[in-house]
Parts: sequence; C-alpha cells; structure tokens
Amino acid sequence: MKTDTILLNQSLSLPNGTVLKNRLAKASMSETLGTYDNRPTPALVELYKRWASSGLGLIITGNVMIDRRALGEPGNVVIEDERDLPTLQKWAKAATDHGAAIWAQLNHPGKQSTKGLNESNLAPSAVPFREDMAAFFETPREATEAEIKDIISRFGHSAAVCKKAGFSGVEIHGAHGYLVNQFLSPHHNRREDAWGGTPEKRRRFVMEVYSEIRRQVGAEFPVGIKLNSADFQQGGFTEEESLDSIRALVEAGIDLIEISGGTYEAPAMSGAMHKPKKASTVAREAYFLEFAEKVRSTVQVPLMVTGGFRSATGMNEALSSGSLDLVGLARLLAIDPDAATLLLQGRDSAQRVRPITTGIKAVDRMGIMEVLWYTRQLKRIGKGGNPVPSEGGLAAFLKSALGSGWGTYRTRRLRARS
Ligand SMILES: Cc1cc2nc3c(=O)[nH]c(=O)nc-3n(C[C@H](O)[C@H](O)[C@H](O)COP(=O)(O)O)c2cc1C
Repeated sequence: MKTDTILLNQSLSLPNGTVLKNRLAKASMSETLGTYDNRPTPALVELYKRWASSGLGLIITGNVMIDRRALGEPGNVVIEDERDLPTLQKWAKAATDHGAAIWAQLNHPGKQSTKGLNESNLAPSAVPFREDMAAFFETPREATEAEIKDIISRFGHSAAVCKKAGFSGVEIHGAHGYLVNQFLSPHHNRREDAWGGTPEKRRRFVMEVYSEIRRQVGAEFPVGIKLNSADFQQGGFTEEESLDSIRALVEAGIDLIEISGGTYEAPAMSGAMHKPKKASTVAREAYFLEFAEKVRSTVQVPLMVTGGFRSATGMNEALSSGSLDLVGLARLLAIDPDAATLLLQGRDSAQRVRPITTGIKAVDRMGIMEVLWYTRQLKRIGKGGNPVPSEGGLAAFLKSALGSGWGTYRTRRLRARS
C-alpha cells in the first residue's frame, strides 16, 4: 500500500541543535554479536552498515553493558574502557557514513540475567521472580550503596567512551525490567534508604545516572532514555510515576524520551498485553500511543514511540496526529533490514511481523523466546546474508537455547582465566 503524505521524511531538530535526517528510527535490539569476552566484532559493523544504507534517520544500538560482571546475555558488548576503541569507531562510522545518527544504548541488567551467566546478580532489593520463571532467573541480592554509586559512575564513563568512539549519542535503557526500571518500580525496589521508599527516592537512581552521563559527555551530546509507560505488573511502575519521571528528566535536560512498556515477566513491549477492543485503536497499530498523548499534554520533549508500528500509513498517521516525533521500529528491521527505503517512500515492506511460537506454552509465555528467534536473524545479516523470516519457532528456540548454554559456559571460562 502507498500513502501520500510522507511525514516520515521530515527532518527533526532536537533542542540541543542535533538534526536527525528523518523520523524513522531503528529501536534497540540486542544483537549478542560480541565475543564471549564481550568485545565488539566486524559482524556488528556489517549489520549496522546494512541498516544505515536503508536510509534510517536514527539507529539505536542493541544494549551495551557498562559492567562485565553484569551481563544480560552471552555475547553482549561491554564498554568499560577504551580497549575496543578501533572497532567501536568502525561500528559508529558504519552508520554515520550514511548520514544516520547512531546512539549506543547503555544498560545494566540488574536481576534480569539468566542463571549462571554472572557470578551473582544485584538489584535494588532481593525480590524473587515470578514462580514459573524462577528456574531460569535467580533471586538477586540487594545492591549496597557503594555498588549503586559505582554503577552510576560506570554509566557516565561508558557514555564518554562512546562519544570518543564517534557515536552520535547515547540512550539509557530505563525500560523492560532492567536495573534502572527496577529502581523505579515499587515491586522491585523495596528499599527504605535514600534509593527507595517514595517515588522521588526510587527516581533518584535514574536521575543520578542521567546527571553523571551529562557531566561526562557535556551539554551538546544527545542523551536519551527508553522508559516504560508502565510495567504491566501488579505493584509495578505506573503511568503516573512514569509521567512524573519524564517530567523530572525533561527538567534535568534529557534530549529524547522513547516510550515502551513491560518487563520479562510481563512482556508488553512485544504487544503481549496489547488487546485493543476499539477498531480505531487496532488501526493505530502502535501499543503505547495513548500514553504518548498523555506525555505530550504534560511536557515538551522530543518523543519516540516504539512497539507495534508496521505500515507506512500507520506511521505517517501517528506522526500527523502530533503525538510523537519519531517512529521506532525493531522486529520489522530484523526480518527486512532494508524496510526503511520503502517506508520512506510511503510503501510497506513485503515482510510481516508475525507471532513466533514454539508450541511449548511455558516457553511461549516468556518474551525472551521471541527475542532469541529475532537474534538469529540479526546474526545472519551480520554475516553478510539475509534473514530467513520463514524459520520455525521451535527449531530456532532449541538451537538458540543450546547456543546460549554454550555462550554462558564460554563466558564463564574466559572470565575465570582473565
Ligand atoms: C531481538 C530483540 C532484541 C531486543 N533487545 C532490546 C534491547 O537491547 N534494548 C531495548 O530497549 N529493547 C530491545 N528490544 C525491544 C525492541 O526495542 C522493541 O521495543 C520491541 O521489539 C517492540 O517494537 P517492534 O514492535 O517494532 O518490534 C528487543 C527486541 C527484539 C526483538
């Protein structure tokens, strides 16, 4: 289908003067294309070249970890120092050579890391996982004050290395149940000290992470954050607290807010909790538009919305409604890395994002299953090939689970030797 008004093609100026060439952004997808000792590889350069050459305006990397003791998955890239500057420079250049901005997404997983990968997992409080997930994820220990301060300074330092490597900006991963989100959530954060107990205190961690990054990268370098509209979990972070956090971050000077939602325990980010009854909501595709409208009527800040966008018409209509400035796309770009070329002409990709299932209920209930399937597509593109959108869910899951087990073993071996 072809649409006539192509708002996607308009450039976007951020308040700090940064100009994005259009409104189409690749949202973060963890590639796990790093080595098992967590260094960036040429496959990342290849993958990002492919995306950037399709015409995307902004490309946000898969989550990059700020501490090698706290990985989310085997094969995550870790940025703690300048040891990988030459490859990081090539990675950034793969995008900027095509006029795309590339922002590194910085993350600490907190408790959301599968059993056995890290020596131990910390979180704001020692809250166990949902019962059916406890076999895969261990109950974390409560972080000490010194550990919290160390993590904050690591976020800042990793951002400074990204800037030096030529990345155009950074994004804090404050969504999807990882550490920043854990601090914000009354379910995960049961602390009664300076880091929890009231919404303001739960917010303190994200505010300090932001200020430390800003201190280390300066006023001109774009810093954004991906935040949950809500956790979709009983006792979790609510829309009201999310709006208050956005207000506080905007006041502090954040350059972009990306809206998403959910956690591993309640995977709203992939649409699992999106069951709209009204036909008008179905037609609007994206999962978090209503919340974006609330943000719009609360504060003035560049807004990106990610989750559910599929068609050029859906994207252009969302932009013309004025409720967002940037359209974030993830899964579609894993099965069609060139989709932006068509979308920017008002045409749809021939590929359709479809539910990926294994047929095993306990596995399909977890958002992580889909992530594994999509990661396999990213690996194919990183090797210079094409995705295989017809790949079955079960076979992919079994291969990924084996690969992940091997990756965990290798990561631990390499860590023990270093
Ligand atoms: C393979 C895969 C990896 C992902 N990794 C990340 C990540 O590292 N950081 C993040 O913020 N979101 C991550 N996401 C979530 C996406 O950014 C996005 O929020 C979600 O897929 C919904 O957008 P979509 O409907 O366009 O796919 C990932 C999604 C997939 C499929």
